[in-house]
Amino acid sequence: MYNFLYRLRQFIAFYSTADTVYQVHSPFVFKWVNAVLEDRRWYYAFTDIEAVRQKMLGSAAVLDVVDYGGGPEGHAPSSRKAPLRRLARVVSSGPRQGRWLFRLAQWLKPDRILELGGGVGIGTMYLAAGAPRASVVALEGSEACAHVWRANLSLLGLAANSAVRAGPFSQTLAPALAQLRSVDLVFFDGHHRQEATLSYFEKCLPHLRGQTVAVFDDIYWSPQMLAAWQQIRRHPRVTLTIDCYDLAFVFFGSEFKSKQHFRLVPSAWKPWKRWYSSGTPLINTP
Ligand SMILES: C[S@@+](CC[C@H](N)C(=O)[O-])C[C@H]1O[C@@H](n2cnc3c(N)ncnc32)[C@H](O)[C@@H]1O
Repeated sequence: MYNFLYRLRQFIAFYSTADTVYQVHSPFVFKWVNAVLEDRRWYYAFTDIEAVRQKMLGSAAVLDVVDYGGGPEGHAPSSRKAPLRRLARVVSSGPRQGRWLFRLAQWLKPDRILELGGGVGIGTMYLAAGAPRASVVALEGSEACAHVWRANLSLLGLAANSAVRAGPFSQTLAPALAQLRSVDLVFFDGHHRQEATLSYFEKCLPHLRGQTVAVFDDIYWSPQMLAAWQQIRRHPRVTLTIDCYDLAFVFFGSEFKSKQHFRLVPSAWKPWKRWYSSGTPLINTP
């Protein structure tokens, strides 16, 4: 109940200050919003991926899940039984998040994608489908989830360029970064604790380039995650952030003259904003 009320309060605060494409003056951000948030085109991949989710939702399978995300980095994991349908419905990226990931990948045309927290593959499938030529490496703590991840990616013919490494990020991140060398798109979606999130971000930084986009899920999950997000925004390498509540996007390009932070929603969420064009980036606001 506390979590629900916390997130509701955060959503109201976010929504009341969010702008839409009609308030964006930066040409780069304008193009990005049109490509990722405003593009309404439907792709066969969306139907296919949601069919895989539906299949999992209808499954009676229960997985033995090892959870590395419940404590500080390197803590002893806990084990639990998790129905596959719950992993598909609650733990995986939702359809809207998935479509944003797909369109981001389609817009960015990355060569190398890294996902921290592969789960059962829903987010990976959207990313891989959006950038069919990219090499995708997903890290997933639980071998049982990694097994389903592999089956799902194969089902959609997305396995050739994709691999999942099972085990805790503390053991899999460094070898994955060594293998990829540089990363064009990194999706942080596991181990939602402040110090762990910041530590993985710092470890990835030497491998991120000016064009790289880092995506964070669940920044409003808890006060800890919000604190991590605020630290990431302040990081000297970060030059632009776009917080869309469901996902938050971080850019590192040196072409942005001063650090800018935006809170943006699709224009359909605030249709009256079409008549206002006075938006300004949120610089140094919480
Ligand atoms: C929210 S789910 C990922 C959902 C997936 N990214 C998607 O878009 O569908 C987070 C996953 O991260 C994994 N995870 C959390 N902490 C981890 C850690 N420290 N090491 C490895 N995996 C971890 C969990 O096992 C879980 O499957």
